[in-house]
Amino acid sequence: MDAKRRDVAAPLLDWYDRNRRDLPWRAKAGETPDPYRVWLSEVMLQQTTVATVRPRFSAWIARWPTFAALAAADEADVMAAWAGLGYYARARNLMAAARVIAADHGGALPDTEAALRALPGFGDYTAAAVAAIAFGRRAVVVDANVERVVARLFAIPHPLPGGRRAIRAAADTITPDRRAGDFAQAMMDLGSAICTPRRPRCLLCPIAEGCAARALGTPETFPVKKPKAARPHRHGTIFWLERDGAVLLVRRPDKGLLGGMRALPTGPWGDAPPGLAEAPAAADWRMLDDGVSHGFTHFTLDLALAVARTHHAVNIGEWWPVDRLDEAGLPTLFAKAAAVVRRMA
Ligand code: ADE
Repeated sequence: MDAKRRDVAAPLLDWYDRNRRDLPWRAKAGETPDPYRVWLSEVMLQQTTVATVRPRFSAWIARWPTFAALAAADEADVMAAWAGLGYYARARNLMAAARVIAADHGGALPDTEAALRALPGFGDYTAAAVAAIAFGRRAVVVDANVERVVARLFAIPHPLPGGRRAIRAAADTITPDRRAGDFAQAMMDLGSAICTPRRPRCLLCPIAEGCAARALGTPETFPVKKPKAARPHRHGTIFWLERDGAVLLVRRPDKGLLGGMRALPTGPWGDAPPGLAEAPAAADWRMLDDGVSHGFTHFTLDLALAVARTHHAVNIGEWWPVDRLDEAGLPTLFAKAAAVVRRMA
């Protein structure tokens, strides 16, 4: 190990041994990690904060404690349990991977980065994180926290996203051969508690001595970012149709955003102003004064809300009891809409 690696890994691992967060998916010091828990947590944490994932992770584990249990689960239940945790493609890939693991790998995850990468939903990050944390393999694990720590440590001047190559190469130079999983999680904990985006607490940092950005006096300016292009803005209408205490829900097409999820009916999302042209049934529709706004990765969406009651049958979707709507697993966008309707209608 060269000097640089020892200079970072040793003090960081000492710090981790004293300060590691106690998280429900983490093995305690000396315990063998459970690969299923490691994998599930890494997938959940890719788009969601630790605070949100904690209770969701525990509930998920209580319901589907093993690969085999998840492989045998009903896909609609899994999708509903994923609501609020980010892109549904991840939940679909979780199920697909669980089935492959149950069918082709004897119910256990393969234990190398290369073999993991062949499974559905395992990209660079997930394969590296699981290989390191679950199996102790040396792997270069770079999530947003690690990216920030490394960009500062080396004062990497290239703006993101192009700068990721340089950050990854630099991370490789400090990753130790032993305790690679602890090292990865130590970097994450350091990024979350000390090397924070806005006001890094350099006085408490165990690796401040070798930090190039600190030496420059401007740690918070790393990682350098390219100015963002504005996200496009889309519009549409959500239709809340009630009959005898139930509301009309539809299933969204499998392909596309929120694919396969239960949803309130909407018109298409586009440039058009809100309107009633795409209403799911003829009724005495009323537009509410309030709507919902939601930010997706590539665009923001403003949806107006139209409400009506009917006594007639409707030949699409299903009627869902309004007082049990929280059991429908609606994506956040539609749960927000339901809250507005309850407040205003
Ligand atoms: N973020 C992503 N993976 C994590 C982990 N294993 N521990 C803490 N934060 C994380």
